[in-house]
Amino acid sequence: MQIPSTYAAIITAAGRGTRAGGDIPKQWRDLDGQSVIARSIAAFDGFARIVVTLSPDDMARGIAELAGPVTLVAGGDTRSASIRAALEVLEGSGITHVLIHDGARPLVSQDVITGVVAALQSGATAAAPALPVTDALWRAKAGHVTAPAPRDGLYRAQTPQGFALDAILAAHRAHPEGAADDVELAIRAGIPVTVTQGDEDNLKLTYPPDFARAERILGSAMDIR
Ligand code: CTP
Ligand code: MG
Repeated sequence: MQIPSTYAAIITAAGRGTRAGGDIPKQWRDLDGQSVIARSIAAFDGFARIVVTLSPDDMARGIAELAGPVTLVAGGDTRSASIRAALEVLEGSGITHVLIHDGARPLVSQDVITGVVAALQSGATAAAPALPVTDALWRAKAGHVTAPAPRDGLYRAQTPQGFALDAILAAHRAHPEGAADDVELAIRAGIPVTVTQGDEDNLKLTYPPDFARAERILGSAMDIR
């Protein structure tokens, strides 16, 4: 799929990766020969404009390592603040739509990305990939199940989350306190959000074992080739 030239990608990577531990922040860790952040950026190759948010502490490293047509922007103290900074860079630049992606999801597939673009091209103001919850859900306290919880209609949200640029920028400005993700801000602003196909392999590297899982997924992709 040809990505329209008025579409931009934001790869947000200004976090510190506290839960992942390790010597360096997770986005700079190597995953089978390439850094996590470089893989996340490479997935958006077809986009004419890519904005990457980084912690001010990582800016020198970003300039040295992230070659190609990327614009580096200093992120903020929260994910929402980082993304707002990137959205403001795109304002007035002729960009009409933006896909906002976690730098910590390096295994996003082209199908997931084009699914979001196709929904926006069909007229959606917002579209994002998700997977229905398939496990049973419980409430538990102090190691004991207290009640089953209905999973009907529940989805696990992923990124990239796609939006008309003016709509998501207005939603950020209306809610400067931010939210867990951009879909939450869109919903608060009354924007309908289309659900597109997610992918089990589009994991967000969050805890130490997630890196081994990502290596396994990359390894089995190599076996198929
Ligand atoms: N993120 C960001 N700016 C922040 C915080 C997070 O751009 N101030 C980004 C992260 O770099 C990551 C994505 O948002 O790509 C999802 O966040 P998360 O998985 O929570 O990453 P971290 O915040 O880095 O990790 P942790 O919460 O464990 O510290
Ligand atoms: Mg975080």
